[in-house]
Amino acid sequence: MRMFHTRDTLKVNEKGHLEIGGADCSELAAQFGTPLYVFDEAYIRQMMRVYRDTIEEEYDGNGLVLYASKAFSCEAMYAVADSEGLGADVVSGGELYTAMQAGFPAKKIVMHGNNKLPYELSYALDCGVGTIVVDAAAEADFLDSIAGKREIVQDVLIRINPGVEAHTHAYVQTATPDSKFGFSVAGGAAEEIVRYVLQKKNLRLRGFHCHIGSQIFEKQSFVIAAQKVLAFVAEMKEKTGFEADTVNLGGGFGIWYAEGDPMIAPAGYREYLSALIAAVREGCAAYGLRLPRLMLEPGRSVVGEAGITLYTVGNIKNIPGIRKYLAVDGGMFDNPRYALYQSRYTAVLANRAGEEPEEIVAIAGKCCESGDLIGTEFHLPKAEQGDILAVLSTGAYNYSMASNYNRNFIPPAVLVKEGRAEYIVRPQTYEDLVRNDVIPARLK
Ligand code: LLP
Repeated sequence: MRMFHTRDTLKVNEKGHLEIGGADCSELAAQFGTPLYVFDEAYIRQMMRVYRDTIEEEYDGNGLVLYASKAFSCEAMYAVADSEGLGADVVSGGELYTAMQAGFPAKKIVMHGNNKLPYELSYALDCGVGTIVVDAAAEADFLDSIAGKREIVQDVLIRINPGVEAHTHAYVQTATPDSKFGFSVAGGAAEEIVRYVLQKKNLRLRGFHCHIGSQIFEKQSFVIAAQKVLAFVAEMKEKTGFEADTVNLGGGFGIWYAEGDPMIAPAGYREYLSALIAAVREGCAAYGLRLPRLMLEPGRSVVGEAGITLYTVGNIKNIPGIRKYLAVDGGMFDNPRYALYQSRYTAVLANRAGEEPEEIVAIAGKCCESGDLIGTEFHLPKAEQGDILAVLSTGAYNYSMASNYNRNFIPPAVLVKEGRAEYIVRPQTYEDLVRNDVIPARLK
């Protein structure tokens, strides 16, 4: 049985077509055109509920799951997260603005960033963002001063770096000693910033944040990080008298992309949270701490497997003895992850999904760049021009990392519910591409 048959969201229907959330992918391609991002709403909601319900049931609801919107940010995603009772993690003024446009409650937003700009911090205070995660002393100074001008006291967390080595691609490790993120516990920088922020009149320190990386499957990495954060809470209580009432353990849970990756059903992600909750409870008991409010920030695991990208197969180039390239109407401008991280993916011919794979092909994009590939090892039936190709698990960090490279259009996105698809991101037009272009008069 092909791997994708086991996913709830993906099926092969009686026509032999791939279906997502009950919608036939060939029909979606015909209706909306390609390339097209397609998201299954039921899967997204299922994932959100698993996280939310685990906190509810195993931690007395004393916490908040924040959807890490960098994984996929558009107004509809904030609307879905809000309707499921989640908060949101934003990392820029742009993500915050998108959330605000969607009517997302600002109090349930946590703002991150290793170099938040003055205009972003001011905008965050104007919106009434609930929590800001401090990642530099200068940021604490600026935030304190603008909060003072507004005569408010802003809740903040401090991002600490507990020095946990997580098993993942090096580019997405964020808590090793060499990191642009956070304050290192080991060198004493974390303690120093705690003392510093505690003196700020217009900042109310609530606790600590840590995020150890992304696409991580080892439960133990998360547990060790949680233990280290709790140890730091205890150490700060003892040294400064400050006892954190909030602990944010970030996101990072891995998803299935291709053969060899663990395939975890939505309910299976409960185990990660249960392990974290147990570590927090044990830490608190061991150090005599109050149970803190627990925040988590899953992004990839919420939307990654909920999304696929549909392309149309164009030119096919067979280089005997070397490889066969299928060129599609998308590429690194809608999915730069192979170019950036050599990420692996699984592809299916959506209009012939019942057929067995016959050959191994590379999938190339349409950009003027040799490295513009979706990957090089796809097992597919013999594809022909015009076939619809679905690349799976593209819901996270695809649209959100897309660009207009070569002045290609960033593809639109549709959300499928019970077989019906609607736009959540409309197609771009040629006018969009030149909207901000200006020809100075002297060049005319
Ligand atoms: N919280 C913080 C502070 C983060 O930095 C991240 C991800 C998350 C939460 C969400 O992590 P997730 O649950 O999605 O793993 N562009 C890369 C991924 C970068 C992740 C950055 N931070 C990729 O395409 O793999």
